Formats: sequence, C-alpha cells, structure tokens
Amino acid sequence: MLKNTENGYGVIAKGFHWLLFFMLTFSVVAGNFLSSMPKGTEKLQSAGMHKSFGVILLLLILLRFAWKLINTTPRPPEGSTVIENLLAQGMHWALYALMFAQPLSGILMSQTAGYPVSVFGLFELPVLIDKNPSSAELFRNGHGVIWILLAVAVAGHVAAALFHHFIKKDDVLKSITVGTQV
Ligand code: HEM
Repeated sequence: MLKNTENGYGVIAKGFHWLLFFMLTFSVVAGNFLSSMPKGTEKLQSAGMHKSFGVILLLLILLRFAWKLINTTPRPPEGSTVIENLLAQGMHWALYALMFAQPLSGILMSQTAGYPVSVFGLFELPVLIDKNPSSAELFRNGHGVIWILLAVAVAGHVAAALFHHFIKKDDVLKSITVGTQV
C-alpha cells in the first residue's frame, strides 16, 4: 500500500525513510572529506557537488515532511506508556528539525560567505541573506555541529528500534521495514 495506515507505514514513507538515511550518511561522509581537503580547484569542484546534492536532499526532506503531515501516523505498539509515546514523538520531531537545519546552515554559510549556491550548474538558489563574514563563521560552526547532533539522535533512534525488536518483541521495526499493513 502506498499510504500509511493505523498498522504500519506505506511504501512511500518507507522509501523516504531509507533513501534519506543513505543520502544523509553519504553527505556526512562527503562533507567531512570536503572539509579536510586543501584549498584549490579540486576542493571548489567537490564543494559544488556537495552543495548541489545537499539542495536535492533539502527538497526530499521537505517532501518527506509534507508526506508525514498529510498521512496517518501508525498507532503506537500495544502496551506502550504515554511517556514512551511522547519520547518517541519528540525524537521524531527532533530528527526532522536537525535534518532541515543541516542543509539550511550549509546554504546560509555559503551565501553569507558571498558564494552563490548552484545546483549542478543548472540554476542558482535565490539569495536569502546578505554577505557577512561573521555570520558565515557562525553558520560554518553550526554546519559542523548539527551533523554530530543528528548522528547522536540517529544512534538513539536505532537503539530504540532494536530495543523494540529484541527486548519488547513488538512490530515497530517491522512496520518501517518488511511489515505489511492491513
Ligand atoms: C543534509 C545535507 C548536508 C549534510 C549531511 C552535510 C554535511 C556536512 C559535513 C558533515 C561537513 C563537515 C563539517 C565540518 O567538519 O566542519 C560539511 C561541510 C561543508 N558543507 Fe555540508 N552538508 C549538507 C548540505 C550542505 C549544503 C546544502 C551546503 C551549501 C549549499 C553545504 C556546504 C558545505 C561546505 C561549503 C562545507 C565545507 C566547509 C569547510 O570546509 O569550510 N552543505 N557538510
């Protein structure tokens, strides 16, 4: 089924979940590689690819978020407490906030540093903010910290999924992987 139901996630939510997981992981690795490169034409070319890929990611995150908002959220597993459900929801919102913050801080870093953000040379993003070196430094630091917070949140999210699967033995992990919903 394409859409979510009360009993589990549909194909589109599952697709977004795993596609973004792999694309974000790739971007974190590529971003760290980019930061370690010496200044020069190779770094400029790699930065162009990283930025273009990041803008596509931002678009996919927006689409995923819109899909979440217009869809049913599967109900929590049997026997879970109100606190557990609130924690799970809080974690999901935090993951969205961090996913948005990472590419946005990158775009703002580039624009405040006075560099346009081109998407694979096809078009440029509108300039949202004026050039300002001290803001560029701030967004650069943010871009270097947010991915760490995101990685920590993802680790907690994975630990919770494994806890449900192996300790509580419910269908939470199956609902976003192999589970079929009725
Ligand atoms: C979700 C998407 C993105 C992820 C996961 C990501 C991840 C990263 C990471 C982990 C770093 C290394 C940070 C550090 O060690 O300080 C980095 C560097 C960088 N990112 Fe991103 N990034 C994303 C999107 C963007 C976007 C959209 C832009 C700009 C339009 C951008 C521009 C840059 C630049 C210019 C650097 C190099 C900073 C430097 O070496 O001074 N990133 N990115």
